[in-house]
Amino acid sequence: TGLVTLDPGFVNTAACSSAITYIDGDAGILRYRGYSIEQLAERSNFLEVSYLLIYGELPTKTELDEFTEKVQRHTLLHEDLKRFFDGFPRDAHPMPVLSSAVSALSTFYQDSLNPLDPEQVEISTIRLLAKLPTIAAYAYKKSVGQPFLYPDNSHGLVENFLRMTFGLPAEPYDVDPALVKALDLLFVLHADHEQNCSTSTVRLVGSSEANLFASISAGINALFGPLHGGANQAVLEMLEGIHKDGGDVDTFVNRVKNKEAGVKLMGFGHRVYKNYDPRAAIVKRTADEVLGKLGVNDPLLDIAMKLEERALSDDYFVQRKLYPNVDFYTGLIYKAMGFPTRMFTVLFALGRLPGWIAQWREMINDPVRKIGRPRQLYTGYTEREFVAIDER
Ligand code: CMC
Repeated sequence: TGLVTLDPGFVNTAACSSAITYIDGDAGILRYRGYSIEQLAERSNFLEVSYLLIYGELPTKTELDEFTEKVQRHTLLHEDLKRFFDGFPRDAHPMPVLSSAVSALSTFYQDSLNPLDPEQVEISTIRLLAKLPTIAAYAYKKSVGQPFLYPDNSHGLVENFLRMTFGLPAEPYDVDPALVKALDLLFVLHADHEQNCSTSTVRLVGSSEANLFASISAGINALFGPLHGGANQAVLEMLEGIHKDGGDVDTFVNRVKNKEAGVKLMGFGHRVYKNYDPRAAIVKRTADEVLGKLGVNDPLLDIAMKLEERALSDDYFVQRKLYPNVDFYTGLIYKAMGFPTRMFTVLFALGRLPGWIAQWREMINDPVRKIGRPRQLYTGYTEREFVAIDER
């Protein structure tokens, strides 16, 4: 009650307090639990960062070993859940396949239905971290009509994911350690980003005491949109479009500046970063490295670099403080690794998962937790007399 203020897009409204991720958008700073993204990118890895986000501290060696072992033990999918994939059309986009399968986890693990029981939350946390890569690999396998591979837990989480995605039963897949490292790093960069659209969705759904699987399934759907996680797919499609039109960056930038319907510079701009996105700087370096190492000479990389240079020296983008965000160069790396464009946002979801879990757990344990229930400013009719159907 009291004064209701209108804030479309929650530009100035904090919906919670949080001790997980700190962003200073003017200075280009991102820290998880106080540790800078640059240090974590260089010195940590995805599972360790997952532990940090979820439990609040860097693990000791024993804690990390136990955590890793627990996650590795839960990578298998129930055989009936595996059959779930048969029902989708072969050309299904893997994002709704991912969110549907995560939603279905509630039916296979009905012990998860009490989100106020810390033991259930803990086991759901482990199940999600372990099974999402398997689900993601199967969504891909389904789309190419290849057999599903069982997880092989002698491999690390990221390596296992690459193996289940690109491996075949008849030919052992030799995972390139450089690719594992690069993908692991990209997951670290995506692992949390405070109250973005998908994370806010996870919190809002969870605030009704819906369980972790239901909340994260909703978060995956929020991530799907091109203004959020779907931007990495949209960037590649944009670069391909420019390439097909002869690589003319100027014409494209002019279309963006003229605000042609539906034409934006995808992978540029951010609600919070108004200087630069620190993740984008690391991604750009990684793109150079990975493409160099794989010997990939992608003309789209040249277009992306020209586009960035052109935009950064143009008043339209300078005045609006639009810089490349995390999605601008990631697609080129994923493409070089062999992922089809439609899998890009799935990779974002795999990276963001520990952040969603950490934020959901913080929300459920918040002493001032309340169901999320925004107010509105009503703009409709005040009151009207009902009119019988034959008099309308
Ligand atoms: N291309 C062209 N113009 C843009 C762009 C862009 N990418 N982004 C913002 N603008 C313009 C916008 O039209 C507006 O202009 P004006 O003042 O003349 O009306 C001004 O810049 C302010 O933009 P806004 O839409 O009010 O900013 P927002 O904070 O509401 O939106 C955004 C942030 C990320 C949705 C937006 O910048 C955008 O649509 N970017 C392209 C999609 C994208 O790359 N998304 C990924 C975001 S980062 C990772 C993630 O969250 O997944």
